[in-house]
Amino acid sequence: MSIDTPPITPQQYEVLHGGGAEAAEIAQQRLSRRRFLRRSMLAVWGLSTTASVAGALYMLYPNLAGQFGSAFTVGKKTDFPSASKPADYQLGAKGVFYYQSARTYLVHMATDTAFLLSATALKDQLTSESIVKDSDGSYWAALYQRCVHLGCTVPFRNDCSSFKCPCHGSHYNVDGEYLDGPAPRSLDRFALSFSGEDVVVDTGSLNNSVPHPDVTTRLIAPPSVLCSAGG
Ligand code: FES
Repeated sequence: MSIDTPPITPQQYEVLHGGGAEAAEIAQQRLSRRRFLRRSMLAVWGLSTTASVAGALYMLYPNLAGQFGSAFTVGKKTDFPSASKPADYQLGAKGVFYYQSARTYLVHMATDTAFLLSATALKDQLTSESIVKDSDGSYWAALYQRCVHLGCTVPFRNDCSSFKCPCHGSHYNVDGEYLDGPAPRSLDRFALSFSGEDVVVDTGSLNNSVPHPDVTTRLIAPPSVLCSAGG
């Protein structure tokens, strides 16, 4: 019999089964067992539901604080001096900085950067490439270190002012734009913002759809120095 069958009272049991004190006692025990089973099943159902909801919430909102996939405060703006010309970019000193925990190259372009576009075309292209203009007129980008060809870590090369993948040679400009090689697009970039004077890189928000630039979209001229083969 299902535990959901409405319980009967001892008095009803007596009427149905011929009654007596013994019948009443049996009926009472049946009622108690049913209540116990129902409460147990409800408790199990409640616990399993709570566990399921907690698991789903963790999947949706994992606690990634301080881990790749979360937002990082990478430093103060003043920690990252900007560079103007490509030849001025020096890893860790000017224009381009590596932040390992966020797997990010932070790029800081000076206000007098010689962009190939202007006015609305420049503004739109900067936005589509997740390059942020600061209140002082300089520009910032957070480039994901991962080569968009097959995933090797791409080093910045001071000798040729650009990113050059050691695996199959994909080559990217200081702003992450594709130059040459087998990569299918420009380097991916994370969302970047400011909190007061802090620079914040959100590695949970990736722009992975910056195509090869052409003459109508390229932001910065290719570097004039070729990367040496052994670099
Ligand atoms: S993984 Fe970078 S070029 Fe192939």
